[in-house]
Amino acid sequence: MSNFDFVCTYCQRIDTTDPPTLCVCGQPLEVQYQWDKPISQNDIDVSNTSMWRYRKFLPSVEPKHIISLGEGWTPLTKAEMFNGVRYSLKDETVNPTGSFKDRGMSMAISMARQSGVKTICVPSAGNAGVAASAYSHAGSIEAHIYLAETIPFPFVRDTKKYGARIQFHGKTIADAAANMKQEMKEDWFDLSTLKEPFRVEGKKTLGYELAEQFDWSLPDVIIYPTGGGTGLIGMWKAFKEMMQLGWITGYLPRMVAVQSDGCAPVVDAFLHNASSTQFWENSNTAALGLNVPGPLGGPWMLRVLYESNGTALCVKEQELESATQEIKRVSGINTSQEGGAVWGAFQTLVAEGWIKKGETTVLFMTGKER
Ligand SMILES: Cc1ncc(COP(=O)(O)O)c(C=O)c1O
Ligand SMILES: [Zn+2]
Repeated sequence: MSNFDFVCTYCQRIDTTDPPTLCVCGQPLEVQYQWDKPISQNDIDVSNTSMWRYRKFLPSVEPKHIISLGEGWTPLTKAEMFNGVRYSLKDETVNPTGSFKDRGMSMAISMARQSGVKTICVPSAGNAGVAASAYSHAGSIEAHIYLAETIPFPFVRDTKKYGARIQFHGKTIADAAANMKQEMKEDWFDLSTLKEPFRVEGKKTLGYELAEQFDWSLPDVIIYPTGGGTGLIGMWKAFKEMMQLGWITGYLPRMVAVQSDGCAPVVDAFLHNASSTQFWENSNTAALGLNVPGPLGGPWMLRVLYESNGTALCVKEQELESATQEIKRVSGINTSQEGGAVWGAFQTLVAEGWIKKGETTVLFMTGKER
């Protein structure tokens, strides 16, 4: 028996398709729970040192279908001060395949198995493909990963390591996705960002984890490198759920989306107070996870930013490398350029006074440098 419904994030229709995809209106579905009894922090399985410690707050899945490689429950660094602002880093580079994408794939592949899926396909900017390959392999599911031709070799090597089939096309994830659409067979299950609702549920554990690590209060500001948006969306969903459960009270964190000026559809839409993003032509950035020119989750991300009194800003492409080197040196974390973007954005927001002295900030280091 499942403990949830799928509700459309746009038209609110309830969907019962198994396995779930998009709503008939074309927009993403969201998992909404009917928790059958009051649940509390005591329902966290503290003996489990992966994201599955929050299993009671995730879609119900039979234990035999769970595919876990130890993802989640990642370190939050000791607080440091920067110009009067306290900050900690959430180190997602230590996940099994090196990025926060593992959380989403652990959840989505487990649910796909439960629904009897035999083959999945996904377009990727790099890390999601590696994660999909690893979790599919562990779950005996065939995986087809669609990448841009420009993808650096280490991503190809790490994706191949787990036996997925790879196809290359174009310059961005949008080109790779268009190729996938042409090639995909009827019985392949599409794991693209937000085209099924479970990757968000896995990412949601980022939010539960932060609350637990902050002893059930939350930081003032969260800065996140934003591409397809599942990290931002998932965390916000967790905060709303925990409020509903009465675990946290007061103000929720102000959510910050960071992009590069080489691909900034979310920042552009936010600055125009828009409710959806426009396709970013000729996108190019060294922070590969941010090279998502036309995110399906644009409206959802923007709602999170507005609702949380957050903001969105770009880091200049020419400044990415030096910001990345600096945060690596300061923290000792082997972060990819997405972490550099976060560090650059943090410094800007402190300098502008958007983050004030005395406030607490969490900076996400979402993936390792390969
Ligand atoms: C390291 C890294 N950071 C951030 C992102 C963007 O994540 P999201 O799609 O959840 O916005 C990605 C996506 O590929 C990534 O690989
Ligand atoms: Zn709908």
